[in-house]
Amino acid sequence: MAWTTEKRYRRYEDWTAEELQQINDNIAKSPWRATYHVEPKTGLLNDPNGFSYFDGKWIVFYQNFPFGAAHGLKCWVQLESDDLVHFTETGVRVLPDTKLDSHGAYSGSAMQFDDKLFLFYTGNVRDENWVRHPYQIGALLDKEGKIEKIDKVLIEQPAEATDHFRDPQIFNYKGQFYAIVGGQNLDKQGYVKLYKAVDNDYTNWETLGDLDFDNDKTAYMMECPNLIFINDQPVLLYCPQGLSKDVLDYDNIYPNMYKIGQSFDTKQAKMLNPSPIQNLDYGFECYATQAFNAPDGRAFAVSWLGLPDVEYPSDRFDHQGTFSLVKELTLKDGKLYQYPVAAIKDLRADAQPFTALDKSKNSYELELNLAADTEHEIVLFADKDGKGLTINFDLKAGQVTVDRSQAGEQYALDFGSSRSTSLDTKDTTVNIFIDKSIFEIFINKGEKVFSGRVFPGEDQTGIAITKGNPTGTYYELDYGRKTN
Ligand code: FRU
Repeated sequence: MAWTTEKRYRRYEDWTAEELQQINDNIAKSPWRATYHVEPKTGLLNDPNGFSYFDGKWIVFYQNFPFGAAHGLKCWVQLESDDLVHFTETGVRVLPDTKLDSHGAYSGSAMQFDDKLFLFYTGNVRDENWVRHPYQIGALLDKEGKIEKIDKVLIEQPAEATDHFRDPQIFNYKGQFYAIVGGQNLDKQGYVKLYKAVDNDYTNWETLGDLDFDNDKTAYMMECPNLIFINDQPVLLYCPQGLSKDVLDYDNIYPNMYKIGQSFDTKQAKMLNPSPIQNLDYGFECYATQAFNAPDGRAFAVSWLGLPDVEYPSDRFDHQGTFSLVKELTLKDGKLYQYPVAAIKDLRADAQPFTALDKSKNSYELELNLAADTEHEIVLFADKDGKGLTINFDLKAGQVTVDRSQAGEQYALDFGSSRSTSLDTKDTTVNIFIDKSIFEIFINKGEKVFSGRVFPGEDQTGIAITKGNPTGTYYELDYGRKTN
C-alpha cells in the first residue's frame, strides 16, 4: 500500500470502521507481537513521551500513528504503571485536533503541577503551502484522564531556528523549572535551547540561551534532548541527526548519544566539563530515549526500539516499533549504567540452568557468567541448523559482536547486519531479554547495552551454543497481564 501524504494526514474521523477492522485483523496475524514490551495497539509507535510520575502512578505515552506502519498524523496514547514493568493502556490520547497541533502531537515531556499533569509538547502544523510551524504548546491532564489544551503558544520558534524546532523537555533543577528544546539553526546545525519558567509558571518561559555542552556542530538537527541529574551531575541524552562519524562512529541511520557533565550552570546555560560524546546503545534500534528524574531523584529512561526512515518486516502486518524496557540510569566510576528496574525480576516464572534448547517461547531472560579471558558464542532465535541471532563474547580480545544476518527477515541492510563494541577482559555478567522479536542485551548490569529487533521465522525459537561454555540461568518470563 502506498502511503501518500494525503493518506498519512487524513483526519482520524475519516477512517472507516471497516478500515479499522482490517488493520486489527491484519495485526492479529502477526507472528512478531511482543509479550512483555509496550507496543502500539495498531499502527506505528515512535517516541516515548510525557514519562512522569503522577497521582501515585508512573505515566508514559507512546507517540502513535494508529492507521498503519507509517509516519503520519501523530497522537499520544497513555499508559500507566505501578512498577515500571507492567503497563496498562488507558486510551487517553493527545489528539492532533486544534489549530496549534493540527498535523501531529509531536514529542514532549510532562511534570505534575498541583493535581494536574502538565504535558509540554510540540504541535506540528502545516499551513496551506505545506510550510511547517512548530509550536511548543501545553495541555493539562487531570486525574480522571481528561485533557484540556492550553490555547496559546508557550515557546515560539526563535528567529535563528528553522522549522525544525521541537521536543520540549521540562525539568526541575534545584526547585526551579527549566526546559530545553531541540532544533536546527539557520546554518543547518543542530543545537539545544535552554529556557526558564518565570516565577515557575509553566506558561511563561524566558530564553536563557543555547545550551553549551561542547556541541561539535556536525549534526544538522538535535532531536529529543533530555537533561537529567544523577548524583547532581547533569547527563544530556540526545539524538544528533547527521553527526559526523569522525566525531564518534555509529552504525544506525540516526544515533542516540549522551554526554555527562560535571555540573550545570544555569546562568551561563552551560554544562561544565562535558565528557566526550558517547553512544547510548550499541545495537540496531534505540532512538528518542526519554529520561526523567522521578520525585525521589532516581533517573529512568525508556527508548523507542525503532528508527525513523526505516522499513520493518512487521509493516505488512500494520504494526511497527516498540518501547525498550524501562531502564534505571546510574553513574558508577564516571560511567553511565542503564539497567531494567528491579521489578523486572517479577517476570521470572521458571528458572533452569542455561543450556542449548531446541525450542523456547522466545520470551525469556538469560543471565550468563563469563570468565575473564574466555570466548563464547551463542545463537538465539536459532533454527535446527543453528542459524539465528549470533552473539559472540570474546573476553580475550575484549569485544562483543551481535550479528542478525541469519535471524529471520532482513531489513535496514544499508546499515549493516552486525554491531560490536569493546569489552573489558574481566569476568563479565550478561543479561539478555528476549521477547518474540526484541532483544535487549545488558553487559555488566548495564555498562554496555545492545538493543534491537529481529523478525524470526516460525522455526527460529531455539538456543544454540557454538563456542565456549557459557554458564548461567535461563528464566522463562511471564508477563501475567498484558493489556495493550
Ligand atoms: C523523533 C521525532 C521527534 C518528533 C517526533 C515526530 O523520532 O522526529 O523529533 O517530535 O519524532 O513524530
